[in-house]
Amino acid sequence: MTIKVFSVFGTRPEAIKMAPLVKALEADPRFESKVIVTGQHREMLDQVLTIFDIQSDYDINIMSTNQTLTEITTRILLALQPILENEKPDILLVHGDTTTTFAASLAAFYQQIKIGHVEAGLRTWNKYSPFPEEANRQMTDCLADLYFAPTTASRENLLLENHPEDNIFVTGNTAIDAMKYTIRDSHQLTGVNLQDDKNIILTMHRRENLGSKMQSVFLAVSRIAREFPEYQIIFPMHKNPKVRDLAQKHLSQFANIQLIEPLDVVDFHNLMARSYLILSDSGGVQEEAPSMGVPVLVLRDTTERPEGVTAGTLRLIGTDESVVYQEIKELLTNKTAYQKMAQAKNPYGDGQASERILSGIYSFFNQK
Ligand code: UD1
Ligand code: UDP
Repeated sequence: MTIKVFSVFGTRPEAIKMAPLVKALEADPRFESKVIVTGQHREMLDQVLTIFDIQSDYDINIMSTNQTLTEITTRILLALQPILENEKPDILLVHGDTTTTFAASLAAFYQQIKIGHVEAGLRTWNKYSPFPEEANRQMTDCLADLYFAPTTASRENLLLENHPEDNIFVTGNTAIDAMKYTIRDSHQLTGVNLQDDKNIILTMHRRENLGSKMQSVFLAVSRIAREFPEYQIIFPMHKNPKVRDLAQKHLSQFANIQLIEPLDVVDFHNLMARSYLILSDSGGVQEEAPSMGVPVLVLRDTTERPEGVTAGTLRLIGTDESVVYQEIKELLTNKTAYQKMAQAKNPYGDGQASERILSGIYSFFNQK
């Protein structure tokens, strides 16, 4: 029997990390694969679908400007119900910790459809940090049947919550699988003004950082831009108007700060690989940078990705203006401190996570 596997995702990072898995499912005759996109992100999702040449079977297109968590959740629940009722997949795969992840899991649970959680078991144990992602992943793991944990640490977290050991598979992170598609030495970057080896990337979007915390980071970055004019600071701005308005206000007047549109993932990964330093509150960037040996100053108070901190590539610095300024300055002026962080180590597997997930699904449906 072929196993009917539906994958659902809606935001840029879910799409990037589900794309290699969708490709593997499509190529494997043991599975019938279909894709539902929620369109929680529109432009930033479509960029990924185009790069990986993925056509969705259903697009429920829920995004609205400055959408609330309640709007995202209820629109997804209402739109997924008839699709899941009609299609009755054997299993619905969700990814990570977005509101698409949680709402789609709840929609599947209401139909008693099996749920496979890709990137399961990440934890900060603080439900407001990051918000709402920590609660989304805990609630998704409550509902899931199969757990694809990227590392042994995430497996341990799932065991602490008494999830059944036999249904937890340590797979590596599909982010590493995705990088096999994107990173190429020969890739030509257009639309970015690169400054030899003096390029700094900034990305920032987390809900709990919107407002005063983001402003204090931007003020620190503007001080750095003034004091270190030889560095280019490249900020591919998230499409959220709350991010863009604040960036325009504080960062648009500097010749060495480039406020640009979100890059497609091929451009972005290759830009990362060629950067001196990254400043970010992103989850995915924390997984990708260690294998490139590019230091990341993480603009958050907590992380669910301790592996990169242990590897030495990531440092958690929060959002306080003077701390952010000092930490960046240290890495621009102290070569020993910089070199200590700039070591390529990859704690997230060998790029075969998708294959392990397929094996896990197959064995689950063939053991009954
Ligand atoms: C969402 C996820 C977050 C994830 C992030 C990745 C939730 C609650 N948040 O946060 O976990 O880290 O995606 O980027 O699930 N917008 C556009 N076009 C786009 C994308 C966004 O215009 O392509 C604008 C819209 O006005 C939208 C707003 O950005 O309302 C916020 O998007 P939303 O998905 O709610 O939150 P993110 O901060 O993107
Ligand atoms: N990314 C991208 N273009 C950009 C910025 C980021 O393709 O301009 C990629 C990045 O490499 C990573 C993912 O988007 O794979 C992270 O997305 P984001 O930071 O929006 O979300 P998070 O990972 O924090 O949930």
